[in-house]
Amino acid sequence: AAEGDFKGKKVLVTAGPTYERIDPVRFIGNFSSGKMGYAIAEEFASRGAEVTLVSGPVSLSVKSPAIRLVKVESARQMLQACEEAFPQSDISVMCAAVADYAPADVADRKIKRERDEVPVINLVKNPDIAKTLGSEKRYGQILVGFALETDHEFENAVGKMQAKNLDMIVLNSLRDSGAGFGTDTNKVTVMTANGGRTEFGLKSKQAVAADVVDSIAGLLQKQTVS
Ligand code: C5P
Repeated sequence: AAEGDFKGKKVLVTAGPTYERIDPVRFIGNFSSGKMGYAIAEEFASRGAEVTLVSGPVSLSVKSPAIRLVKVESARQMLQACEEAFPQSDISVMCAAVADYAPADVADRKIKRERDEVPVINLVKNPDIAKTLGSEKRYGQILVGFALETDHEFENAVGKMQAKNLDMIVLNSLRDSGAGFGTDTNKVTVMTANGGRTEFGLKSKQAVAADVVDSIAGLLQKQTVS
């Protein structure tokens, strides 16, 4: 990790879960802690980047003054915040665990418990933020995604990288205990659109963030050379 190697670079990071409201007191969400995304944002900031961190609801705080925190709740709000920051961003890293579906309508009062009837919640598909940004990506912009796969992990990750027009995808290995949601450690494989694949060992999310940012520095270097 070279000091200040991201000086002058603008970076967008998404982190955390999204909450999709059902009624004023309930939501559909997931167990994403936001730790991986926050660690990546801090790593970029410590290396001189100007970071916009678009975060779903988490119980973490930002340490570096070089990080502008944009708090959102739902996938739609997250997309909107990303659309604002993306055109100016040199590098965008999609770490958020975006809910795939949202309730079709939000009840304006708390849904009451009925004696016989069980309520039905109709769902609609949420926007794919990474894919949307991928379709808007300009020459020179770098877009990085994360993938959590259980089977055919490499093929699926490559498929996602292509479908979303990503330059790099970070595959979380779920086979290893200590990797993934809620934990303080992670084990990843970094895959690039030009066919590169690097497997890293189990380490702290801070150390994984440094590896991911190093890998992105490598991509940038290739861009400027070619
Ligand atoms: O398709 P899948 O959810 O497995 O893709 C994961 C990657 O796409 C992650 O980088 C995640 O942040 C991003 N994503 C997104 N918006 C969605 C779903 C996933 O940005 N609605």
